[in-house]
Amino acid sequence: MLRDNALSGKTIVVTGGGTGLGRAMGTYFLKLGANVVITSRKMDVLLKTAAEMEQEAAASNKGGAKVLAVQCDVRKPEEVDEVLRKTLETFGQVHGLLNNAAGNFISPTERLSANAFSTIIDIVLKGTANCTMAVGKHWIKEKQAGTILNIVTTYAFTGSGYVVPSACAKGGVLAMTRSLAAEWGKYGIRNNAIAPGPFPTKGAWDRLLPGDMAKKFDFKNRVPLKRVGEHQELANLAAFMMSDFSGYINGEVITIDGGEWLQGAGQFNGLEAITPEMWDMLEMMTRSAKGS
Ligand code: HXC
Ligand code: NAP
Repeated sequence: MLRDNALSGKTIVVTGGGTGLGRAMGTYFLKLGANVVITSRKMDVLLKTAAEMEQEAAASNKGGAKVLAVQCDVRKPEEVDEVLRKTLETFGQVHGLLNNAAGNFISPTERLSANAFSTIIDIVLKGTANCTMAVGKHWIKEKQAGTILNIVTTYAFTGSGYVVPSACAKGGVLAMTRSLAAEWGKYGIRNNAIAPGPFPTKGAWDRLLPGDMAKKFDFKNRVPLKRVGEHQELANLAAFMMSDFSGYINGEVITIDGGEWLQGAGQFNGLEAITPEMWDMLEMMTRSAKGS
């Protein structure tokens, strides 16, 4: 979507960058010329991904941008600091942070232990805060501008049963996004979020649609566009939000869900199940109500 080298000269940290959507967004940043730091708990996954990303981006990455893999559990502030240290040591500067790492699983809330609830809050909300504070403090100290992009989800604004810790955590991340947009705008630090609808990944589908649930609860039936998202569609938006082309966007959450959450919100949207013949009959009935 963006022109070649649109992110050239930038260094972007992507949490949870070894798999799924983080990997897709990181790969596109690299193709557009940015150095990319991918972090998560599993170093073997990160190293394999880093090599594959560089190979995949080789044709378009003319400036020779690099991928650095750094092990980090976002729940541990000291490991987050180490990501920043290694990033600066390798690339000299950091320009962007993509808070993408997350943990989630479906469960009736009454079946959750206190630790299960805390685990999700610790990864999603506190992990995002740990990364945001580390880079934010660095940028403020160095008097340097920066861009933070948080991956939330549409139930950050609607809430959702059966993923309550995740909904609480993502809602918190959205509040953080808007709060820091106001507070840190004066330092040239932008805070924005993307709320994706369904974009199939192994990590999410194994935990949210286990077994034959993926067939029984087919997400594409909930989406007005009748399909799920393609990873590149999300990567296009993330690259724009990370780039200087979105330089005046601050405190915004952009939904990319094919209209899914509004489909669920409109009380009569389910009437799409009605056939044209049934509409003929219903029209007769509603018209005949005129005088009643
Ligand atoms: C009930 C569960 C559980 C389950 C774990 N727990 N799975 N409780 N049902 N299915 C409980 C454990 O018993 C434990 O509590 C506590 O949660 C912590 O579990 P651990 O396994 O020790 O945690 P940890 O090793 O830190 O792993 C975190 C994880 C795991 C979240 C549980 O799934 C993970 O690593 N996920 C990372 C990737 C991921 O989740 N990706 C999907 C993101 S998708 P006790 O009390 O026993 O100690 C997403 C999409 C949103 O966010 C929108 C989609 C449309
Ligand atoms: P995924 O592949 O499971 O990605 C989650 C990543 O987070 C993994 O790489 C995981 O790596 C990392 N991670 C988990 N816990 C971590 C921790 N404590 N510290 C550091 N890294 C950690 O799933 P995904 O679908 O791509 O999800 C990516 C993001 O998109 C998440 O924020 C998710 O909420 C959001 N999202 C996804 C969808 C969708 O339809 N897929 C929809 C809306 C929003 P390790 O296991 O190696 O740590």
